[in-house]
Amino acid sequence: VLVRPAVDDDAPIIARFQIEMARETEGICLDEATVAAGVRAVFADQGKGRYFVAEIDGEVVGCLLVTYEWSDWRNGTVLWVQSLYVPPEHRRGGVFRALYGHLRGLVEADDSLRGIRLYVNSGNAAAQRAYEAMGMDGEHYRLYEWLK
Ligand SMILES: CC(C)(COP(=O)(O)OP(=O)(O)OC[C@H]1O[C@@H](n2cnc3c(N)ncnc32)[C@H](O)[C@@H]1OP(=O)(O)O)[C@@H](O)C(=O)NCCC(=O)NCCS
Repeated sequence: VLVRPAVDDDAPIIARFQIEMARETEGICLDEATVAAGVRAVFADQGKGRYFVAEIDGEVVGCLLVTYEWSDWRNGTVLWVQSLYVPPEHRRGGVFRALYGHLRGLVEADDSLRGIRLYVNSGNAAAQRAYEAMGMDGEHYRLYEWLK
């Protein structure tokens, strides 16, 4: 599994993965045009975040979005993982492990980066198992939200 920063040409498959993920994990049908614009906005403004994709033999088999949280406690940046998706036919083959390992490597190598965080739907047991398998701690915080 090869992990690389996403390029503009990856935008359509990243958008498709997001629509599939929303249907699978939350049972919701996202608006295609909105998601396509939302993905393109990241490529247009690096301050918003950065996508990474995983490839096997040139085929994109997974993606995630990294966004940035400033930590004044640590005087550094925490990477947030969003929009993580591996299509069903490629699961349990180490694709997420490779994506996560790549991010860990970036954080370990850069003094300004302090760690990795993410949130997960409380009913998504498979993803929770995967995060625990990477050694991440799910006990520390609860997530609260209000979305318009
Ligand atoms: C969660 C997800 C990204 C995992 O990706 P993956 O490429 O299948 O994960 P990996 O093969 O790298 O698994 C790494 C380890 O995590 C654990 N794991 C992964 N999926 C698991 C599952 N369904 N059940 C139990 N443990 C699991 C295992 O310990 C696994 O190691 P092993 O296969 O050697 O036992 C993938 O299932 C997915 O895309 N799900 C739908 C979208 C989603 O839930 N995204 C996250 C939203 S927060």
